[in-house]
Amino acid sequence: MTHTLLSPLDMHLHLRDEAMLKCVAPLSAQSFSAALVMPNLVPPITTIEALLDYKKRITEAIGNETFEPLMTLFFRSDYTRDFLEKAALHVKALKLYPSGITTNSEGGVATMDIEILRPVLEAMSDLGLILCVHGETNGFVMDREKEFCTIYESLASAFPHLKIVMEHITTKESVALLDKYENLYATITLHHLLITLDDVAGGMLKPHLFCKPIAKGYEDREALLHVSLHAHPKVMFGSDSAPHPIDKKECCGCAAGVFTSPIALQALVELFHKHHALANFQAFVSNNAQVIYAYKPPLKEVVLVKIPYVVPHSYGNVVPMFANETLAWSIERVI
Ligand code: NCD
Ligand code: ZN
Repeated sequence: MTHTLLSPLDMHLHLRDEAMLKCVAPLSAQSFSAALVMPNLVPPITTIEALLDYKKRITEAIGNETFEPLMTLFFRSDYTRDFLEKAALHVKALKLYPSGITTNSEGGVATMDIEILRPVLEAMSDLGLILCVHGETNGFVMDREKEFCTIYESLASAFPHLKIVMEHITTKESVALLDKYENLYATITLHHLLITLDDVAGGMLKPHLFCKPIAKGYEDREALLHVSLHAHPKVMFGSDSAPHPIDKKECCGCAAGVFTSPIALQALVELFHKHHALANFQAFVSNNAQVIYAYKPPLKEVVLVKIPYVVPHSYGNVVPMFANETLAWSIERVI
């Protein structure tokens, strides 16, 4: 049995830099057509020069593969309209991180006060730039995303023409906002469709499943599955594949991030097949994003086949999700 995907897109990806970039970028480029690349390097991508340099390093790391890195800028509340006009020639989206909320987000916004953010958000809205948000407060870890929902609501109401993507949503409350506000969209990861907090910490602690936002409960996962398997038109696949070297994961003070890019399509097709939802797979993993981002990706045909795939223990010094385990589907060929 086979299933063919056209131009799969990963709308939330961490490619890092230097040796890690060289290791992970080809793995995404092998099976995806394009990806929205997150700007949380150290230091973050806040200038057009840094953005173009980073894009060049990504392109070099990819080699001859057909793959377009869609760049993002790290949101700052002090950007000028003039700067954003120039940036709009190179990016479709800016990524907003509340300061200190996740890996390399220290330079993020200190406040979500709408009046402080207004000049930049108004300019973005006028220029058709998309706002991607890591939506967590600094409250209790299991409540952070739920608490952030009121901020999403304020943003969506205050800037009705601004497209806002709630990144890597993990709760039923975030899912409910999709049908409440026309301008709210979401990315959903593979791991949040598959695991709950039980998988992370219910038995022996699993550092390779530790990420921000932390996986939640069964009802939340059901809500994520429902909109993904039905390919709700405002939902897109975004892996949030976030590689960290093994010594930063298997240690005291484990870094947040699950590395999924090389196994994402194989695990997703298994999930959609299991739920009799293969008819919606193409929309979830490409077509919805094309509409939301008004983007036409390079053409790539990925043929998935129901033949077992043994996931390697590691790629370079990064351990993927499902390391050493066998998935039911493999990638047969990419054209
Ligand atoms: C991401 C990373 O490592 O850059 N980590 C994560 O747990 N998801 C950052 C992020 O998207 O929160
Ligand atoms: Zn991320």
